[in-house]
Amino acid sequence: MYDGGKIIAGIIIFLAFALFPFYSNIGKADIKPPKPSLDTPVIKALKVKKCVEPEQYMRESHMQLLIKWRDSALRHAKRVYVNSNGEEYVISLQKTCLRCHSNRSEFCDRCHKYADVDPYCWDCHFSKAKQEEQR
Ligand code: HEC
Ligand code: HEC
Ligand code: HEC
Repeated sequence: MYDGGKIIAGIIIFLAFALFPFYSNIGKADIKPPKPSLDTPVIKALKVKKCVEPEQYMRESHMQLLIKWRDSALRHAKRVYVNSNGEEYVISLQKTCLRCHSNRSEFCDRCHKYADVDPYCWDCHFSKAKQEEQR
């Protein structure tokens, strides 16, 4: 009448195919963009938690902004940036961006690692920061 062995084998084969999408995803579940950490003493102390420009703009265009800053400081000797709200910031990677985002490895680096970009800026700028700390 019934062939128990074949039915069980059939069920196992069926389950193996039906569940494939689930177990083939094991281990891939965490490939999500990292949430950049804002947990720094300076940001915690801010009354209004905001960046130099709106968050969306910063997320998408901070690279262009930094290049603009560099050109402004070095080519035009202009070291004050006026943002879209008319607020002023000193143009400095170290003294402005990294004063708030002092957790560079959890903030800048983590996101760059995820996005697979490796800004060469730190070759010069980070060692400069270390020297400043020593003074
Ligand atoms: C070869 C070394 C070097 C590299 C690489 C470099 N910089 Fe600079 N950068 C300098 C020097 C030197 C200054 C002038 C410092 C001053 O006059 O305050 C400067 C100034 C700046 C300034 C304005 C002042 C300040 O202190 O922040 C910005 C902004 C800046 N760089 C951004 C960048 C960015 C963004 C990158 C990467 C895309 C980068 N730099 C890569 C050497 C470098
Ligand atoms: C006064 C403190 C402060 C300064 C200065 C500052 N930031 Fe921010 N930044 C923040 C805060 C707070 C947020 C999150 C909330 C927001 O953007 O409104 C943020 C968000 C960002 C984001 C988006 C993160 C995300 O979740 O996608 C980037 C990128 C960023 N900042 C880069 C920079 C760069 C580059 C500079 C220098 C040009 C800079 N920040 C200067 C406080 C600061
Ligand atoms: C939310 C994620 C995120 C955070 C946080 C972030 N970046 Fe970026 N950054 C990117 C991405 C993505 C790119 C590449 C964009 C592209 O190629 O168009 C990039 C590119 C750059 C570049 C240009 C590099 C190149 O070779 O073109 C610079 C400079 C830079 N980031 C500086 C910073 C600094 C400084 C911080 C921390 C204060 C920071 N970023 C934080 C995502 C981030």
